[in-house]
Order: sequence, then C-alpha cells, then structure tokens
Amino acid sequence: MPVFVASAKAPVNIATLKYWGKRDTKLNLPTNSSISVTLSTDDLAAYTTATASPAYKDDSLVLNGIPEPIEQSARLSACLRELRALRAALEQADSSLPPLSSYHVHVFSKNNFPTAAGLASSAAGFAALVRAVANLFELPQSPEELSRIARQGSGSACRSLMGGFVGWEMGSKDDGSDSLAVQIAPKSHWPTIKAAILVISAQKKDISSTSGMQTTVKTSSLFQHRIQNVVPRRYEEMKNAILNHDFELFATLTMADSNQFHAVCLDSMPPIFYMNDASRQAIRAVEELNRAAGKTIAAYTFDAGPNCVIYYQQEDEQAVLGLLRTAVPDADKWTSTNASASLLHGYNTE
Ligand code: PMV
Repeated sequence: MPVFVASAKAPVNIATLKYWGKRDTKLNLPTNSSISVTLSTDDLAAYTTATASPAYKDDSLVLNGIPEPIEQSARLSACLRELRALRAALEQADSSLPPLSSYHVHVFSKNNFPTAAGLASSAAGFAALVRAVANLFELPQSPEELSRIARQGSGSACRSLMGGFVGWEMGSKDDGSDSLAVQIAPKSHWPTIKAAILVISAQKKDISSTSGMQTTVKTSSLFQHRIQNVVPRRYEEMKNAILNHDFELFATLTMADSNQFHAVCLDSMPPIFYMNDASRQAIRAVEELNRAAGKTIAAYTFDAGPNCVIYYQQEDEQAVLGLLRTAVPDADKWTSTNASASLLHGYNTE
C-alpha cells in the first residue's frame, strides 16, 4: 500500500510585544495583537515528517522519539481537521488526486533546541506540523492562511510560519478567520538584529501559559488597561520602529512590554511569578550595559518562564555578550538562586 511523505522545519519565534490572554480558548483567539522576531532555523527549529497511508489504522504523533496520545489533544485534532478539509476541497476539484484526506496520518517531530533551553517549543512544533501536513497534502494556501490553522495548535505558533519580523493581528471575528500572522518585514530588511539566550532554568514552567492567561484575564485590572490602552498603540509604534530600523525605540518598547506582561502576571490572583532572582539579575545587567553605552544597545525579554532573551545589533555583539559573560561568569553563581544559568551564543534571526 502506498505511503505518502513530506517534511518541514519551523523556527522558534520570541515575542517582543507579548500575546497574553485569550478571548476564545477553543480557537486560541487572543485579547491583543502581538509581534515577534523569528530566530534562525538552523540554530533552533522543530523538524517534522508527516506520512499518510491507506494502511494506517489511526493518526499518531511521535515527539522526540516518544509517542504522544494524539486523541487527547484537542488542539492537534483541530489542526488536522482543518488541514484535511482543505485537502478534501482539492480532491473534490480534481478527482485524479489520491484521497489523502481520508487516510490517517503519522507525524514524527523533533527539535534541536539546546535541551536546557525549554524555549518556545510548542510554537515551532505546531508550525512545523502544520507546514509538514500542508506539504503532504500539497495545499496551495499561503503562510498567512496556514497561520490561522497553526494558531489553533498553539497561539504563538502562527508567528513561526514566517521569517523576519512578524505580527499576529488579533482580528475581531468570532470564527477567528481574521486572526492570523502577517510578515511586518523580512529578515533582509534588518539583517543585523541578533538574539542571545540566557538559559536560567531548564525546568518546565509550573503554570502553563494557557492556565496563566485565564487567571490573568479573569482577575487582573491592569490587564484591562494593557489590552485597551497600551498594546494597540504599542503595536503601531513597534511596527514603525522595525520599518524605520530604530533599534533604540524597538528595544525600549520590547523591554517595556516584557515588564508589563510580567506585571499583569503579578497583578493576577493568585499571582503568577515567571521570573526569578536570576532573571532580575539579567535585567540589571542589561540596564547597566545600556547605561554604560550611553544608549540602548540591548533589550531583554522574558516569556512565561525565567529564561532571558536579549536582542541586540551585530555591531554591539562583543559588548553585549562580553558583559553578560562577566555578569554571569559561571553556573555556580546562579545555583545559589536555585537556578542554573548558561549563556548561549548570539543567534541569527531568520
Ligand atoms: O502560544 P502559547 O500559548 O505558548 O503562549 C505564548 C505566550 C508568550 O510566550 C508568553 C508570549 C508570546 O507572545 O509568545
């Protein structure tokens, strides 16, 4: 019996304007638009192979060599259902196509993140899965259109279908048809931006982003201020900073947004703490670096965990990585804060 095969890889993206809050938990519709930078596929990526065959008895997913219970993941099923529907439409229009939409699929995915990093794995993972199955089904849909499907796997995954600087427009429709990722600018627009990743803890976060978001949406009054008064303006400002190559503004907005995201976490009830003492030490090191430079040459940002991503420009690499190495001389220093830290090299953007 025939087996059809296709592969894809998708990079990690790290938000500079954070997505935090769902207005629809089933469709992963956000309460605010967000912006991210896609990191290099060669350094940090998820690799996925999808196969389909009339011989398969069920769908299956193997992640880094470990079989995952596919039927329990409503998000994965939602992605597969949407991709099958697009394939079925193709088959209806062209009866010579093999009926892949009626076959089960087997998906194998692995990532090459430094195992300690624990960074944005679901974003790259779902983006690679959607891209691989779309390739398998030979779907003509654009990355924007596929981003609507990846969004249902993991919200931030929609931004990993494109390189460069990517916006996720929250949209306003209840069916999510206008909640999708758009490329603000390709990497070639501003190729000198880099990211350093400071791995402070490899431990899995104790509060998942989904449950953290719901606590924030339900209980934080600062969150209401953020989504109504801050993010809409900040989205436009950050987009313009990118389009104008204005690093100081881009960096300032990035740090302000990371700080506000963690402030709304703290304003939630019960409060959510993603950063730890080591994270705060990294913030102080970046603040000190910028003060010594007399201008903003580095921007820290933290997702739903203590690890720090620092954006900077190629020309400042020595200063940025040099200071961080001094501020974080060895992991031992950090174990005293009950965390281990290591400094990875500067990553290129994609
Ligand atoms: O896509 P999720 O559900 O893993 O949520 C991601 C949330 C943040 O990483 C904190 C912010 C973002 O925009 O990526």
